Formats: sequence, structure tokens, C-alpha cells
Amino acid sequence: MTAMNRRDFLSRTSAAGVASIAGSALSGGNRALGATDPAEARVLIDPAHPWATLDRNVFGSFLEHLGRAIYEGIYDPGSPEAGPDGFRKDVLGEIQGLSVPIIRYPGGNFVSGYNWLDGVGPKKDRPTVLDRAWNTIETNQFGTDEFMAWCKKAQTTPLMAVNLGAGTAKKAGDLVEYCNLAKGTKWSDLRRKYGREEPYGVKHWCLGNEMDGPWQIGHSTAIEYGLNAADAARQMRSVDPSLFLIVCGSSNPFMPTYLQWDREVLEQCYQVVDAISLHRYFNNTTETDGDSRHYLALNLTMDRQIEEVAAVCDMVRGRLRTNKQLHLSFDEWNVWYRTRGGNGQKQMAPHLLEEVYNLEDALLVGGCVNTLLRHSDRVRIACLAQLVNVIAPLMTNRKSVLRQTIYYPYAWALKHCRGKVVNLYVESPTYEVEGMGQVPLLDVAATSDAESNETTVLVLNRDLDKSQQLEITWRGGVPKRVKVSQTITGPDLKASNTFADPNKVASERLDAPNTLGARMTIEVPAKSYSVFVFETA
Ligand code: AHR
Repeated sequence: MTAMNRRDFLSRTSAAGVASIAGSALSGGNRALGATDPAEARVLIDPAHPWATLDRNVFGSFLEHLGRAIYEGIYDPGSPEAGPDGFRKDVLGEIQGLSVPIIRYPGGNFVSGYNWLDGVGPKKDRPTVLDRAWNTIETNQFGTDEFMAWCKKAQTTPLMAVNLGAGTAKKAGDLVEYCNLAKGTKWSDLRRKYGREEPYGVKHWCLGNEMDGPWQIGHSTAIEYGLNAADAARQMRSVDPSLFLIVCGSSNPFMPTYLQWDREVLEQCYQVVDAISLHRYFNNTTETDGDSRHYLALNLTMDRQIEEVAAVCDMVRGRLRTNKQLHLSFDEWNVWYRTRGGNGQKQMAPHLLEEVYNLEDALLVGGCVNTLLRHSDRVRIACLAQLVNVIAPLMTNRKSVLRQTIYYPYAWALKHCRGKVVNLYVESPTYEVEGMGQVPLLDVAATSDAESNETTVLVLNRDLDKSQQLEITWRGGVPKRVKVSQTITGPDLKASNTFADPNKVASERLDAPNTLGARMTIEVPAKSYSVFVFETA
């Protein structure tokens, strides 16, 4: 990587991916208010001309029968924190507080060997089985009905995955019948027999998981899987035509079949599905050799992945000469590299994939939030993978819950982003990353909500050494006051939270800009991710 070049390079980006800027709108006029140094980074915000309506489902999450996510995570009858239903009340409280809109379940790799019938009915009759995806003992004490009851308490909605690995399209349809049909058929009446009179009305479904991966139970070729997914989609829709169905795209951009898999699958099932899945886990060793400047740029590869998969969808659309445009479901994304290769050694609820996150991981997660926002015209669902204990923002021990560093950017997105995504024009100094070219120091995204008159601006500062001034030019609604001004930062990129020291890396108040106006300046600390909520007129 070469040294930063702060003057010679200006990166120009917009939420719409337009690589140009209205230069005259950003030059001349009043000097930045409250600024001591002239800002080298600028953004033009025009809340009146939004880019897309934000679907809050882009801030979903994921719970898999894996490690201690379900058992000891959300369900732990032996814990002093458990309610009468065995659900951890403290964990429920955290998740209610976050207001997570949608949660994917029961896997992940787990789903490809899962027989959903093992997990319903009287608990004493449920079999204990070996989950061959993670080599873990599964007691089936928590299953579909418990998940639906838990979702209700957590004030979230389910994103169910069906088993298209060892399972069949027919069984996938049976599960939809169990969940969504009122009564009068074998599977709907089984649900009623087990004490759940009302159907659950689950709308969103994944057609299997990562079927391109040789690690996946039932892995097949793209064409075989595409035909099977189409069969499952038709059977599931014949039970409930209102379903939103997500077919498996490539597991990651490093797969040898990346994009080819997506194209071949879609050629079999485009007309009967609504979205294709994308997955991505960031690795600060294999991808970056531990270079933090490179690492903090990796969310830009997520932008690129979204654009590439969208291009394949549109290519298939063009060949089919159909008006139907496919959505994207980024239903697994996070940092994950320290605890790869989980093997449960035939234990129950083993400690698997218990990644301890640090400050730089949180900054990258913030960057990913920005990426998802600026692609929210196509990405309709996304799931931070996962939610509790397994590569998660929340960790439990017997008595308490810990917020990991990555909790904060995720929580801010959930709390402060609503309404429309704003089309931004950003100019930023850049630095060079080998293999990536010029990377902007500042990564900016924004939403605007007409109901509350709030515009939220999220800023990742990739500069590891210096704070940065960002000059904001407002078109239309000029801010009246700053309602929120928070950052996550610190001297040590490797700092983490622990049960003994839970607030080492946490949200801190940032000095709000002292002067507001049509042209104003905010300052963000070195190595930080910050949120500003402005009340606009
Ligand atoms: O989230 C952990 C695992 O990562 C999931 O089970 C799988 O889908 C992915 O490879």
C-alpha cells in the first residue's frame, strides 16, 4: 500500500453509483461553519430527492442451531435468567431493544440435514439426533413452534429456511402447510393438535442454504438445484401464493463457480422466485494480511458483489424478456475469520464460532451498513450473521449478556435509519490499497424520514491517524438541530469488550457541530464510525 495521498485524489461517489458530482454545488459560497481547517471531504445531501425506500428488513439477523446460539443463547431453561418457557429474558430484552425486523432460522448449514418434524410435538417425544453439518448433538427441544413463539416475544418476524439438501421439495411444502394453512389438512391439523390453533403466516422463505458449497449436505450442480428450487417454490406457493421466496446464490465471491452458479440457477427458476441470496464473511488475515487500512475498505467489495449479482439477475431477466426484476437477499454477512471450521465433537451446545470482535471489526460492520443502505433499491433483506453467541453482537454467560463491539453500528442502523435512503454526492480524499485502487477515507450514507423530519448521516472514517472534517451542503431541508451525535472509536483497533470490561469499546457522545446551516462542517475522529441525526425543517 502506498502512502495516503490527501490532495491529489478525490473519490467521487454517489448512492446511485454515479461517478460524478455537481461540482458547482460544492464550491464557493460560505466557508464551512465552525471549521478550523478547510474540509477536504464534502457531501451534498438532498433529502427531497431520495434514492430508494428503506426496507427495514435489510437490518435483519440470523439464528442457527449451531453452537450456543439457540441452546444457552436464546433458550436456556436451566438459566436463572430463563422464563417459564425457557427463553432467556435478558436476551429477549436486548433483542426487543434492538427492534430486529426479521430473523433467519434454523440455518445455515444446519438446515440441510434438518427434519423439521423432529422439532415439533411434545418435547419428551422429540428425538435426540446428530446434526451432521456441525457434528453436534441436537435435542430438538427447541423447534418451529418455539421459534414462532419466541419471535412473537422478541417482536420480530421469521425468515424460515427449508431443507433442500437432504430434504425434499415435498417436505418443504409440508412445512409451509404446517405453518401457514388454517386447518383441515394433515399438516395444518398437526399444528393444531400440538396446541397452535392459529397459523403463523410466515411470508419470507429461503429455498435451502449455500447449495453451491461442497461442504453443504446435499450439495448439487446449479442446474439440479435450480430445478429442485423451482419445484419447491411451486409446491410451497400452491399452499400459500403470498410467499416471498429466496433462492440460493453463490456462497461467496471466492467460489470457483461465482456468478456462473447464480446464472444457471436463475435460468431454472427465475419466474417462480422473488430474490437470490448473497453471503459474505470478511477475513482480516487471508484477504488483507492483517493490514487494517485494507481491512476497513472491504465493505467496498460488498458493494461490488451486490452490483455483480444484480447484473446477473438482470442478464437472465433480459434473456427471458420478462418485466419481473429480482430482489437481492444478503442473508448472511459479518466479520468471521478467527473461529472458522467449527466441529461440535458430538457435544450439545458446544462453544463454536464464538468470535470475539474488536474495534476495527465494528468499523467494518459500520461500512457494511453503509453499503447495504446505498444498495437498498435492490437489497430487500439482509441478515447480520448471527445474533447470539455464534459470530454475534450479543454473547451470553450463565447470568448476563454482553454487547460486542459490532453491536453498536448495527444498533444505530436499526434505531436511526428509516424512511428513504438519500442520494449522496461524496467527495473524499483517498488512499491506495493494493488490488483495490483508490479508497475514499470517508464512507458516507444517509437516510431521511419525512414523518419525523429526521435525516441520519452515517460516516466511516478509514483514516487511522487523523480526524476528518466533512463539509455538508444541504439542498432543501436545512437542519434545525442535531438530535444525535455518537461515535465508536478508540486508541486501539484491537480492543474488545469482555464480561469483566463490557464498555471498553462502546458508543460515545461526539461534539455536535456548533453551527448549523445550508453549508456546515462535522468532524469525525480517526478510526471511527459515527452517526448524526439532524432534525430538518
Ligand atoms: O453462519 C455460519 C455458517 O456460515 C452458516 O451455517 C453457513 O450458511 C455459512 O457458511
